[in-house]
Amino acid sequence: MRKPIIAGNWKMNNTISDSLALIEEIKKHKLNENVEAVVCVPFTSLSEVKKAIESTNIKLGAQNLHWEENGAYTGEISPLMLKEIGIDYCIIGHSERRQYFNETDETVNKKIKTALKHNIKPIVCVGETLEEREAGREEEIVKEQVLKAFEDIDIKDVENIVIAYEPIWAIGTGKTASSEDANQMCKFIRSIIKRKYEEKTGENIRIQYGGSVKPNTIKELMEKEDIDGALVGGASLIAEDFAKLVNH
Ligand code: 13P
Repeated sequence: MRKPIIAGNWKMNNTISDSLALIEEIKKHKLNENVEAVVCVPFTSLSEVKKAIESTNIKLGAQNLHWEENGAYTGEISPLMLKEIGIDYCIIGHSERRQYFNETDETVNKKIKTALKHNIKPIVCVGETLEEREAGREEEIVKEQVLKAFEDIDIKDVENIVIAYEPIWAIGTGKTASSEDANQMCKFIRSIIKRKYEEKTGENIRIQYGGSVKPNTIKELMEKEDIDGALVGGASLIAEDFAKLVNH
């Protein structure tokens, strides 16, 4: 059985005080314990949010990390620094990082390996652009992203990875993929993992959908067989909406 996972990606929003205020609001809601709730907060808020969620079931995630443990990489954050804070998850290869910060399938693969080495669970993002979908190339693009991300990843580690299918045209646009299209792609991604590893590995890996997920669309998405959760931007910044997503 795959445990559903709803992860909020706060992106570059919320100072430390804003973050604490949002967490306190979220804590006022009773969250379904059968669903894993994760907040992926800015680096500067990680330590304080960690303390604030101590007595809850909410898990903590970062939004990026460097593949080296230390060195001359000005402005970067090492997995050791994140591990010390006690994060559980880290988003890797978000399309905004691929688009604006030169993230490539190769750096995504290196980052997944370093995260796993430090017992940080990667949430690996894949997804096509509108142009690619209109050209009917969405499966080809996503397949390449998935296979490159999982290059030389050992079968024993695969179930610690979460894949987030986020079609770029659905992010922050209010355009959600239909639940059928989202499920079809999640199923396709699962089939890639089954073929590369074992049937069981593909059955067990969790695959999220992301892109304009809101309280009024979550139920339909989560009812689909191959969608195990959501990676949520905008709606995760509103405590009540985040709670509704977790409690869908
Ligand atoms: P929105 O939910 O704001 O569309 O963002 C999706 C996303 O990019 C989550 O990582």
